[in-house]
Amino acid sequence: MEKISRNNQEGAEISIKDQIKKFAINCLYGFNTIILIGMGRKLGIFDYLYEKTKSVSNVNKCSVVKFTLEELAEKLNLDVNYLDAWLHLALECGLFEIDDLNTKSLKTAPFVYELLIDHDHISYIGGTLGAFYNIAPAQQIMLKNFKTGKAMDLLKLSGDVVKDLQERSRRFGKLIEKLFSKSFTDFCKNLHKQGSILEVGCGYGFNIETWAKKYEKARFVGIDIEPNGIEFAQKLVDQNKWNERIDILKTSTNKYARTTKVKFDLIILNQVLHEMNPDENYRRQLFKDLYLLLNDNGILLVGESMVPDTFAPREPFKLFDITHKFSEAGSARFYNEKTFRAFIDSTPFTKVEFIQEGGTKFWAIRK
Ligand SMILES: C[S@@+](CC[C@H](N)C(=O)[O-])C[C@H]1O[C@@H](n2cnc3c(N)ncnc32)[C@H](O)[C@@H]1O
Repeated sequence: MEKISRNNQEGAEISIKDQIKKFAINCLYGFNTIILIGMGRKLGIFDYLYEKTKSVSNVNKCSVVKFTLEELAEKLNLDVNYLDAWLHLALECGLFEIDDLNTKSLKTAPFVYELLIDHDHISYIGGTLGAFYNIAPAQQIMLKNFKTGKAMDLLKLSGDVVKDLQERSRRFGKLIEKLFSKSFTDFCKNLHKQGSILEVGCGYGFNIETWAKKYEKARFVGIDIEPNGIEFAQKLVDQNKWNERIDILKTSTNKYARTTKVKFDLIILNQVLHEMNPDENYRRQLFKDLYLLLNDNGILLVGESMVPDTFAPREPFKLFDITHKFSEAGSARFYNEKTFRAFIDSTPFTKVEFIQEGGTKFWAIRK
C-alpha cells in the first residue's frame, strides 16, 4: 500500500497510522482508563486496597498491593463476572499486573499505589481522573448549555461529584504548599512558630488538612458558601481533634470581612476564583475584602489554572489547565497570566509575584 503522509504545522511528517494511533488507540485506552478508574472508585475497589495495606503493615511503607478476584468479590460483595471483566480491562490498561499465575493473583502495576490508591501521596491523581469520569453524566447539561451559554451551577452537582472535583484541587494545593514553603522560607519559619491562616472556599477541607498537618502551631479559619463541603470539613476537623485551632464557617467572604476583627498572615484562595461570579466588579470587591482581612505584611496566595488564549502561541504542557477549563466550561472564568496581572492592578494590592516550577504555580500577592 502506498505510504500516505502529510506535514503538520511544524513541518514534521505525520502518517495516517500516527493519526489513527492518536485518535483511536490512545483515545480507546484513555477513555477506558477513565471509566475503569471512575468505576473502581465508586465500587470501593481502591479504598479496599488502601485499607488492606494499612492493616497489613503500618511500619513499612507499602507500594504494591496483591489481591485476587475472589477476594475483591467477597469483600466488596460484587458479582464475579462483572469484576472479572473490569479486571481484564484494568490489566490491559496497565493498572494491574499478574502476580502469580498459579494462584490467579494480581498486583498493582509500578506506582499505581501512589497514583491511584494512596490519597495522601503527593503524586496521587485519582481525584483528577475521577473528576473526568464525571464529565460523562454532566454532558447532557453541557450540550444544552453550548447552545444557550447558560452558566452551569456547580453547587447543584451531587456531593460525590463535587468531592471528586475537590480531590483534584487537593493535589494542586499540596504541590503549591510545597513550592510556597520552598519560596518563602522566612515567612514559613514564622508560620511554624505561630500564625493565622484563612482559606476562602475551603470546600471539603482537603487543602486545610494539608496545611494544618504541616503548620501545627498555626490557627486556621476555613470559609465556604456550600453546606455539604462545610459539613465534611467540620468532620475532618473533629476527627483530627483540631477544634482548638481550626474554625470552619459557612459564610461569604464579604460577610466574614464585615463581622470579624481578625487579620491573617496568610490567606489562601486555592482553585476558587475561577468558580466565582465572573463579573469583574464582584471579583474586585472580593479582593477588597481580602485586603481588609490580610495583615500588613501578610501574603495572599492564589492557586489557579492559568489558561492561555486559544489563539496565543502554544506554551509547553498546558494540558491540565486546558482540561480544567473544559471540565468546568460554562461555570468558570479563568485568566491567563496577562489578564490576571491586569485584574490585580485594579485591586488595592500593589505587589504581585508569579511563582512557577514545572507545572506547579501560584500567585503571591501583598499589600
Ligand atoms: C475547587 S473547590 C476548591 C476547594 C479547596 N480550596 C481546595 O483547594 O481543595 C472550590 C470551592 O470554592 C467554593 N466557592 C465558590 N464560590 C465561592 C464564593 N463566592 N465564596 C466562597 N466559596 C466559594 C466552592 O463552594 C468550592 O468549595
